[in-house]
Amino acid sequence: MSSFNWQSIKNDFPILDNSRREKPLVYLDNAATTQKPLAVIDKVDEYYKNYNANVHRGVHSLSVKATDAYEGARETVRDFINARSVRELIFVRGTTEAINLVASSYGGSKIKQGDEIIVSEMEHHSNIVPWQLLAERAGAKIKVIPINDHGELDLNNFPAMFSDKTKILAVGHISNALGTINPIKDMIKEAHKHNVPVIIDGAQAIPHSKVDVQDLDCDFYAFSGHKAYGPTGIGVLYAKEALLEAMPPYQGGGEMILRVSFDDTQFNDIPAKFEAGTPNIAGAIGMAAGLEYINNIGLDAIATYEHELLEYALERAADHPQLKLVGTAKHKASILSFLYDGVHAHDIGTILDCEGVAIRTGHHCAMPVMDHFGVPATARASFAFYNSRADIDALFKALDRVKEVFKL
Ligand SMILES: Cc1ncc(COP(=O)(O)O)c(C=O)c1O
Repeated sequence: MSSFNWQSIKNDFPILDNSRREKPLVYLDNAATTQKPLAVIDKVDEYYKNYNANVHRGVHSLSVKATDAYEGARETVRDFINARSVRELIFVRGTTEAINLVASSYGGSKIKQGDEIIVSEMEHHSNIVPWQLLAERAGAKIKVIPINDHGELDLNNFPAMFSDKTKILAVGHISNALGTINPIKDMIKEAHKHNVPVIIDGAQAIPHSKVDVQDLDCDFYAFSGHKAYGPTGIGVLYAKEALLEAMPPYQGGGEMILRVSFDDTQFNDIPAKFEAGTPNIAGAIGMAAGLEYINNIGLDAIATYEHELLEYALERAADHPQLKLVGTAKHKASILSFLYDGVHAHDIGTILDCEGVAIRTGHHCAMPVMDHFGVPATARASFAFYNSRADIDALFKALDRVKEVFKL
C-alpha cells in the first residue's frame, strides 16, 4: 500500500468527522457527489462574508474583488485541464448543462435533417437525452457504440460508424455506472480523421485522473464541480476557441451582450457570450478551491491510491460468491457496481445504510447499461482519496448483514 496519508486528508472534511456523529459514516457514494474539504467551505464562506457582490458590473471595490476571484477561478480551471486560454472555458451549472449547451448551440446550428450523432451505450442520461431532443428537433439520427459484457466499448466497428452525415461524437471519459475508462484519445483521433468534432463527458474523470484537453485534442470537455470536491450548481464547458467563436449564444440576457437595441443586438466576446445573467460566483470560487485541493495532493498520487483501493475491494469481493460485478473492464476507475444474489439493490442500500455505509443503488442514470446487463439496478460503491481499506472492510461487513437478513 502506498504511503498515502488518507487519515490526515480525511480530517480536512468536517462531514467525515465521526466523533461528531451518533453513528459512524462510511461514505462510498463519491461518484454521485464528493464531500467538501474545509478549504472549499471556507472559500465560499469568505466570499459571502467579506466580498459578496455582482461581477463584471460594478466599479466599487467589492465588485472588483468578486470579479477578480471569479476570473481567477477561470484561470485555475484553465491550468487544471491545460486549456490554451480562459476564453475557452464557460462556467455552467454542471456537466448536464454543458452538454445541453453544446447540443443546443453547436448542434442546433450544425445538425440538420438526416445527419448523424454518435453516442455510446454506456453514457449517462445527460449525454443521451440532449442529443435525442436535438435529433428529434432536427430530424437527425442517433447511432450507438455498443458495449461488451465486461462493460467496455466494443470498438470493432467504430471507424465504420462514421459517414459524411456524422456531425458529432459524444462519449464519456469514465462510466459512472461501470467504472470503465474509455480510450478517448484514440476515439478522438479516429473521429478527427472523419472531420467529426468530439464532446467528452468528463464528470467522472476530473477528480481521479489528469485531464489535458490539448493533449486529448477534444473539441468539447464537460465536468461538474461537485464531483471534484467543489460546490453543487457549478461546472465547466471547455470548448476550442474557434468553435465557441462560431457558435450562436445558448441563452440571452445580461452580460452576454455588447449592445442591445431593437434593430441590432451585438453579442459579447467569449466566454461572456455564453454566460447570460448573474453567474454562480461563489460556486466558481469554491470549485477552484476544490481543484486546488486536488492539486495539492497530486493527481498521480490520487490515481495510484484509488487504484489500490479498487484492487483491495476486488480482492474482498472475490471472497463473496453472492456478489456479481457489473463492469469488469480492464481499465477501470474506483467504482464497484454489483448485484448480490438476487437481492434488490435498494434493499442492499437500505441495509448498508443501517450499518452506516452510504452507497448508491439504482440505474445510475444509465438505463441503457442496465438494459444491456438485463437488470433494473445495481448497488454501487465508489471510492475517493479520503476512503481507506477500513471503509472497504466496513462495506463487506455490512454486506454480511445483507446475507443474514436474506438468509443467503
Ligand atoms: C458520467 C456522468 N455524466 C454526467 C453526469 C451529470 O452530472 P451533473 O448532474 O453534475 O450535471 C454525471 C453525474 O452523475 C455522471 O456521472
